[in-house]
Amino acid sequence: MGCVIPDTMTEVIKYTQRFLKLGVDSTLEESKLAYDEMASCWEKISDNTGYKGHILCVEAFDRAMQAKDVYSNPRKDMKILDVGAGTGGIGEMLKAREYTNVDALDISQEMLNLAASKNLYKKLICAPLTDKHMEEVETAGYDVVLCAGTIVYGQVKPGAIEQCARFVKPGGLFIFSIRVDSFDPAGLGFSEKCEELEKTGKWLQMLKERRELHATPNEERFRYCYVITYKILQ
Ligand SMILES: C[S@@+](CC[C@H](N)C(=O)[O-])C[C@H]1O[C@@H](n2cnc3c(N)ncnc32)[C@H](O)[C@@H]1O
Repeated sequence: MGCVIPDTMTEVIKYTQRFLKLGVDSTLEESKLAYDEMASCWEKISDNTGYKGHILCVEAFDRAMQAKDVYSNPRKDMKILDVGAGTGGIGEMLKAREYTNVDALDISQEMLNLAASKNLYKKLICAPLTDKHMEEVETAGYDVVLCAGTIVYGQVKPGAIEQCARFVKPGGLFIFSIRVDSFDPAGLGFSEKCEELEKTGKWLQMLKERRELHATPNEERFRYCYVITYKILQ
């Protein structure tokens, strides 16, 4: 189905009013509704806002694969999970690089349906990432977890970061983008959670870069993100 413009969409096709209203107190249901509604227009919205989350995460992944101290011989069948996969931006880039064992997780069935039609992923898991243990993803089940545009206030709580770390085998990687307006303000809990996991020896930060996430965002708070690579230690 083509892009059907919902009532809550701004005139130029960018993020919807429903999405723009997501805040720290939003519920999972509100976030799911926002993405279900945008799914058919997501790629247009991505283009119009100059969204680069998937590209930035795969660039960080490429760099890690080239660093011989991470994997001396990275295998194309390594198990990868794309958390908040959307319509498959990361999946497409990994397929082009000939990775063959990639699963997708997303809260929005509408987004996953579009990803499914591209035949990019082995398994599609429609479930919310939360700060609680989820049965759908086993502990240490993946070599690498990638997550673009999903860890942000309004969509997940900071504890979701710890769950993503749980999905990764010791020695594996968790690579994610997080908007600066989620990471920088003290008290929101995202940077604090990352520091806590470093202090407790769960992981080691390998790379953190501030990058432009949207070239032409609806609002300035969307412009920059950090792209962070952690190596899971235990
Ligand atoms: C900004 S989009 C990014 C999509 C894709 N990763 C990309 O970079 O093109 C965020 C995605 O996260 C999903 N999402 C939002 N909250 C989520 C949650 N709590 N659990 C799982 N997926 C979630 C949305 O449905 C959407 O597909």
